[in-house]
Amino acid sequence: MAAKTDTTGGPRHVAIIMDGNGRWARARGRPRLFGHHAGARRVREVVSACPGMGVDYLTIFAFSTENWKRTQTEVAGLMSLFRRYIYKEMQAFVAENVRVRFIGDRPRLDEKLRALMDEAEQMTGHCTGINLTIALNYGGRDEVARATKRLARDVAAGRLDPEDVDLETLPRYLDTHVLPDPDLVIRTSGEARISNFLLWQSAYAEYEFIDTLWPDFTREIFVDLLRNYGARERRFGAVTA
Ligand code: IPE
Ligand code: IPE
Ligand code: MG
Repeated sequence: MAAKTDTTGGPRHVAIIMDGNGRWARARGRPRLFGHHAGARRVREVVSACPGMGVDYLTIFAFSTENWKRTQTEVAGLMSLFRRYIYKEMQAFVAENVRVRFIGDRPRLDEKLRALMDEAEQMTGHCTGINLTIALNYGGRDEVARATKRLARDVAAGRLDPEDVDLETLPRYLDTHVLPDPDLVIRTSGEARISNFLLWQSAYAEYEFIDTLWPDFTREIFVDLLRNYGARERRFGAVTA
């Protein structure tokens, strides 16, 4: 077992854009789904590294609202991977005291997958260890649009006074309403963009864009990134001495 690491000043909420599965597979002359399977196997190692590093919340981007634009084969393969992944990992999450949540627009996902997502959330509802949030059919703009619709309904029904709408109001309608904002957002695969991930929530997050493709991501890389975070100065617009 690794020695216990000093956790002072580490990020409490880390979000990861797990990118590069397709390129990883292509480099091996294999189909894209081979890369997605390899990528899914990396998640557990990162989840289990969190408790010792003071990370209470881990949010991972698994499928975006834009990923439906991919071929039917890839989309269907990913959906089947998600179903199998949740089914297979549920017990392990309970055993590791991991509380699982999903964010994203659920109605577009198939019924069987939705049922497994509900089950995973219920089964881990009592877990008090790390909070793992899986973004599935998630898009930041889509989330804000859905939140705004619910907010507008509350106004129309007289439950919310428009004069009371302030910076605290919208976050209460977001899928992430029970989560703190991410402190650190990591994106693998060398792309320096956020691709519609946690737009509102990451306003003041620190970012790490690394070249490693997601299936090559390891605990060691994760720990290094957490350490880099500790060396950063977050100013939130203020001037520090
Ligand atoms: C990330 O890997 C996983 C998903 C978006 C589902 P990609 O599939 O985007 O891999 P690249 O970017 O094509 O290498
Ligand atoms: C972002 O990766 C979405 C996920 C990792 C699930 P993409 O591969 O879809 O992003 P773009 O298309 O390169 O911006
Ligand atoms: Mg990609």
